[in-house]
Amino acid sequence: MKILVTGGAGFIGSNFIRYVLGRGQSYAVVNYDKLTYAGNLANLESIASNPRYQFIKGDICDATGVEAAMAGCDAVVHFAAESHVDRSIYEPAASIETNVKGTFILLQVARKLNLARFVHISTDEVYGDMPPGAFADENSPLQPSSPYSSSKAGSDLLVRSYVRTYGFPALITRSSNNYGPYQFPEKFLPLMITNALDGKPLPIYGDGKQQRDWLHVEDNCRGVLAVLERGRIGEVYNIGGRCEKRNLEVAKLILATLGRPESLIQFVSDRKGHDLRYAINCEKLERELGWRPEIGFDQGLERTITWYRENMPWLDDVRTGQYRDYFQKHYVQREKTFAP
Ligand code: NAD
Ligand code: DAU
Repeated sequence: MKILVTGGAGFIGSNFIRYVLGRGQSYAVVNYDKLTYAGNLANLESIASNPRYQFIKGDICDATGVEAAMAGCDAVVHFAAESHVDRSIYEPAASIETNVKGTFILLQVARKLNLARFVHISTDEVYGDMPPGAFADENSPLQPSSPYSSSKAGSDLLVRSYVRTYGFPALITRSSNNYGPYQFPEKFLPLMITNALDGKPLPIYGDGKQQRDWLHVEDNCRGVLAVLERGRIGEVYNIGGRCEKRNLEVAKLILATLGRPESLIQFVSDRKGHDLRYAINCEKLERELGWRPEIGFDQGLERTITWYRENMPWLDDVRTGQYRDYFQKHYVQREKTFAP
């Protein structure tokens, strides 16, 4: 099966590509990515020369580019998005453009080319703030709170409409907060780890009592592949870690693991419209596809901390902006070298 992966240079997309290509010969991958600030080809250095892998730089809002990349593919796994809630609050336009319009363009082209399967990667944030004790299942109402989550909910509804109207073969996953290697350090967990490593303050929004359900990215990738291979067309599957923790608790755990003082914790102004709690029920994926999270939080956190410690050059490149030169150095220069 030849899969078009959108957003494959980002955090989850790059982990997914490595995971899929590592599972034997049955998959080839075309990675279509615009390389925004969040796209980093260094995330894929270990598989860049795999003959079953191809990278194409492009925007999902560009129908011509999408069609050229999708031609000859059997399936799409659509990760590309503006994924950061804070950015969507400061500058909502990019989230709407990529997450809604970009998904629409992909659906149009995939329908035209008769692709066999289309997995749309969504988020537990579309269910909005969950009251204590409640868990959203796949039929719960969509009540997004931020421009980011409303743009994701909008794209989910578009996908749903294509299934119903055109019999389009799409499936949706909605996962909780991912963590693991190669996550851009604007997100909570890598920001806390890298600040703690540097002895810098850990900024906690509001009182830090907000709860998130932490899922190791490898568990998510396994869930996404199970949905691609065996999910029922038209269905939504929640993917969660069964690991609810308060932000403050996570920050303290990171400091304790690194032997740093809790005095590094700094309470800062809260995020606007901040959702207090996300919580999903994942029984459908467990029951239908036999998936369960396998990496416990203590083990996963320790592995993630070790990864950031051992990959300081990656982190330095991201922080200094050097990672943006990767495409220039390895792709543009190479094309020039081979040009007649
Ligand atoms: P990310 O921000 O790390 O990566 C996004 C990737 O998409 C980048 O490589 C970027 O260059 C690319 N991209 C952005 N706009 C594009 C465009 N217009 N055309 C082509 N490529 C574009 O994101 P992530 O954390 O890996 O998330 C991937 C997906 O998973 C997103 O759809 C997100 O909504 C969803 N999700 C993320 C989490 C999480 O915890 N990170 C949880 C649930 C769902
Ligand atoms: O739930 C899935 C979602 O998880 C994904 O759809 C999003 O793409 C992903 O970014 C993530 O969204 P969150 O808003 O939950 O993640 P973030 O890392 O931005 O923040 C996690 C929590 O930590 C949240 O309650 C806000 C808080 N926070 C975040 C940052 C960056 C802080 O307290 N301090 C910070 O500096």
